[in-house]
Amino acid sequence: AKDMGADLEKILVTEDQISARLAEVAAEIDADYAGRDLLLVGVLKGAVMVMADLARALHHPCSMDWMAVSSYGAGTTSSGVVRILKDLETDIKDCNVLIVEDVIDSGLTLSWLVGNLRSRGPASVEICTMVRKPLALDVDLNVRYVGFDLPNEFIVGYGLDYAEKYRNLPFIGTLAEHVYQR
Ligand code: PRP
Ligand code: MN
Ligand code: MG
Repeated sequence: AKDMGADLEKILVTEDQISARLAEVAAEIDADYAGRDLLLVGVLKGAVMVMADLARALHHPCSMDWMAVSSYGAGTTSSGVVRILKDLETDIKDCNVLIVEDVIDSGLTLSWLVGNLRSRGPASVEICTMVRKPLALDVDLNVRYVGFDLPNEFIVGYGLDYAEKYRNLPFIGTLAEHVYQR
């Protein structure tokens, strides 16, 4: 696959499975937001693929905006303190915000982000993620739309990176051990 085949172990979710599931999720969103405005907020950079495909699968008109955030320090699951690298350009007061993510792992990024966005006075804040990992179930986070619940493996593709690579794989797969152990 795209010259990255040797780095992959197996495919977990195919391109067809992704688009079929996105069509289902988009239909739910269309129904839930009927008669209301909708602002999709993508979290850079992982959410780029799912934002692009979800937005095109929707029939409901929507606006799109982006945030880039970064966890403080080197620890991956430390305090949950997050810093904004790029903020929204939209004033979300009274807006229906739907945060779009590629993956929820520890849930710390989104826990913080939901709190941050709620403080700006939106009409609603909901979450849509392509992938949810098991750890996220331990966090007090109400995820309205989930593409796939996947096991706690090292996954890449469809926006998910390892050291900034593999985001452009059109499917979601596991990374071969030799890649992240060298
Ligand atoms: C990844 C992923 C989510 C977040 C999930 O982003 O895209 O945004 O981590 O992790 P959590 O649930 O444990 O907080 P990352 O910070 O790697 O940036 P990226 O999107 O640019 O890859
Ligand atoms: Mn991300
Ligand atoms: Mg990343």
